[in-house]
Amino acid sequence: MSAGALIDIAKRLVADDKGLLAMDESIATCNKRFAKLGIPQTKEARQAYRELLIMTPGLGEAIGGVILFDETIHHRRADGTSFISVLTEADIVPGIKVDIGAKPLAFYPGEKITGGLDRLRPRLKTYFDMGARFAKWRAVIAIGDAKPSRACIEVNAQALARYAALCQEAGLVPIVEPEVLMAGNHDLDRCREVTEDVLHAVFDQIDLQGVMLEGMILKPNMVLPGLASRKRVTADEVADATLACLLRTVPAAVPAIAFLSGGQSGELASARLNAMNIRFKGANAPWALAFSFGRAIQQPALQIWHGEEANIVAAQEALLHRARCNKAARRGAYDAALEKGFAT
Ligand code: G3H
Repeated sequence: MSAGALIDIAKRLVADDKGLLAMDESIATCNKRFAKLGIPQTKEARQAYRELLIMTPGLGEAIGGVILFDETIHHRRADGTSFISVLTEADIVPGIKVDIGAKPLAFYPGEKITGGLDRLRPRLKTYFDMGARFAKWRAVIAIGDAKPSRACIEVNAQALARYAALCQEAGLVPIVEPEVLMAGNHDLDRCREVTEDVLHAVFDQIDLQGVMLEGMILKPNMVLPGLASRKRVTADEVADATLACLLRTVPAAVPAIAFLSGGQSGELASARLNAMNIRFKGANAPWALAFSFGRAIQQPALQIWHGEEANIVAAQEALLHRARCNKAARRGAYDAALEKGFAT
């Protein structure tokens, strides 16, 4: 695929103030979330839930791309229509998570390296042939005593760039996700310092390995204090710290930054994204500031659905609501009042 085609897909994913819906939880993670709510942890239940998500009427008005998991990309509806066709017909670009999860990093207790580079080239070709047009790879970086190590940052940055290069070779736009985790009692400044370090390492490798900046999307964490930190921060403080970090590290040639939610509530994630976009209102931001949320879009829908067919419509309404809130946040037009509902 040409460079131009990759650039077009990257732009399309975030066009019209849309963002991405991450529904790429592994079987284990999906089951864990089902178990918490007492939903059966079966393939049938996972398929029914994912079908509910992609069949949400109007989803394409706020969602430009959906990240699937390997199990989900193979699903078909009862009438035989593949999930990929459902998305494509709704004008939503199908994407696929291609890493195989974070594994313990040898000699660095408590740190992880993401696996999945072996045989990645043929797997990417298969996904492209199925209709996927972008991919995702997540690296995780923990903050703690003597963490992150230089080794952890460097090996993950190298793997992210290696994956991104292979994706572009295969005609898929790489979503590059280095996630600095929220666990810990660190403060906002420490998160900013680590995120800055990680992003410098990632873009060094992206440059070294010849990845085309214009044909990729960065999916970073927002800069936040650790979950165990007692310090409360405002949306404005998060926006300022996050933008200061990104402006120092992310080249302007990258078309979009699509944040992960990392366990923030839907409302907080929208408010913080909104605060960032407000700072660029009327000015040219170097990149689109978008979203690629999993839990912050899905959680209310999952709770409402609860494994019951009778709750599907209400769950879809909740999903669409969160997607619309985040589209408003991209415009700097999100307000807590919107939580009461959108005028139709
Ligand atoms: O890799 C993580 C997902 O793509 C985003 O999920 O928004 O729940 O962190 P999250």
